[in-house]
Amino acid sequence: MEIHVKQGNVAQQADRIVVLGTWQDAPLPDSLTHVVESSDWNGAFKQALLVYVPTQTTAAPQDSSVQSTSAPFASRRVLLVGLGEKADWTPERSRQVGALIGQKVRELQQSSATLTLPTTDALGASAAARSLVEGLLMGVYRFDSFKTLPDERVPTTKLEQVTLLVDADVDGVKKAVDWAKAIAAGVNLARDLGNNPPVVATPTYLAETAQRIAQDHDMTCTIFDHDKQVELGMGGLLGVSKGAREPAKFIILEYGQPQPDRPTIVLAGKGVTFDAGGISIKPAADMDKMKMDMQGAGAVLGTMETLGRLKLPLHVVALVGATENLLGENAYKPGDILKALNGVTIEVLNTDAEGRLVLADALSYAQRYNPTAIIDLATLTGACVVALGSYAAGAMTNNPALLERLKAAADTSGERIWELPLWDEYKRQVRSDIADIKNTGGRNGGAITAGAFLSHFVGDFPWVHLDIAGVAWTEDQPKNYNPKGATGYGVRLLTELLREWSGVSL
Ligand code: BES
Ligand code: MN
Ligand code: ZN
Repeated sequence: MEIHVKQGNVAQQADRIVVLGTWQDAPLPDSLTHVVESSDWNGAFKQALLVYVPTQTTAAPQDSSVQSTSAPFASRRVLLVGLGEKADWTPERSRQVGALIGQKVRELQQSSATLTLPTTDALGASAAARSLVEGLLMGVYRFDSFKTLPDERVPTTKLEQVTLLVDADVDGVKKAVDWAKAIAAGVNLARDLGNNPPVVATPTYLAETAQRIAQDHDMTCTIFDHDKQVELGMGGLLGVSKGAREPAKFIILEYGQPQPDRPTIVLAGKGVTFDAGGISIKPAADMDKMKMDMQGAGAVLGTMETLGRLKLPLHVVALVGATENLLGENAYKPGDILKALNGVTIEVLNTDAEGRLVLADALSYAQRYNPTAIIDLATLTGACVVALGSYAAGAMTNNPALLERLKAAADTSGERIWELPLWDEYKRQVRSDIADIKNTGGRNGGAITAGAFLSHFVGDFPWVHLDIAGVAWTEDQPKNYNPKGATGYGVRLLTELLREWSGVSL
């Protein structure tokens, strides 16, 4: 999609459709008052109404204020969009309105639209543009590469061109638009990985995606195959992958180099490309959703794509343990004991608690970079979904300061996190009688005992674990910039963290 930025009055723009964002209870322009009954319209948040107006293509009015002009619109279709109370305007609302506009314009089968960027004293032009365009590009995303038959629920028109009208600072807004495009590219890459069927999005496919990102953005990509995993002793990843025919891959994607004045940040992702549960097999209902059990990896790879476009001055290493969790004849079994890369031995009580085994090796490997911070993302536990629903990722840490940084990034990006405690009691819950630790601590506090398990693999390095099981996928649409399917959660959060850490301002 092309996004143009310029100065101008929306009434004077000739386009397929013009969008008139309206604050709650603000008067409509005179030229609309006879078209729209005031009882039909009050500008409440996310109201939308298309009106057809008589056009006037010549003698454009001089007055640049929409509210006071009585001159007719230059475009025939005017889409009124309610912005709600001006005082309530936030980046999140701006994102949602961006998505709403994209979706409405597409439903109306129009390929281009012009709108005035809604700004307030609190949300200036560049932040407003960033969030609105982010929402727009995330909202029009659709996974349709397997659609061959016409589907009446799917508009055929593509939104190709959007023109943003601003009062001033065209260059600043253009920069913000580029930023939003980079973020949307990362988010949509993560979504594609999650939405693709597991026969496509295999460990090899994740590895190839990482290699492609490396090529496009001048990064280094290293893939450890089975033999190398054995040589290093990645017993967690190897254990889980024993039941699969697809070979496991350990993926390293490195951006920038270690430098004395730059932080090294490791992002680790769970890349289970399909989780049947292994011998401790899952019930059939909803097992198809377990194609998204690599959304931790999706978030990490998506963030690297975004980072490659933004070129932030940092050293960032993405690590992904990629495997299937299946029931092949050689599958690992409850009762098995595995030895992770850092030497910790793990008694396997449930082969469906596989994510933590994969992460055990990734986190152990992360320590080799002497990192300033390690952040892992994983669709790790159903218990986290029970605890927080689909409105926040569960966050666990050994370093409150790092978590604070992430909380700030969550506030700014709109991708929420919520802390769960990692008290010693939970760590005791995963102690094993015959090995160092066991891979489940029972039902109680299941999200936290998973985090407690992971804490054995990060040493003393500052670390945050994000359980994204509840937020990585959406069936309903509580946020309209997240269409059904994989959400790409984490890309916006991590990008904002990296931006803040790099000192680059917007
Ligand atoms: N991938 C699942 C967790 C999951 C569940 C993600 C629902 C998204 C939605 C994970 O591998 C798993 O199976 N966890 C088990 C752990 C248990 C056996 C200790 C779970 O949550 O039931
Ligand atoms: Mn599982
Ligand atoms: Zn899993």
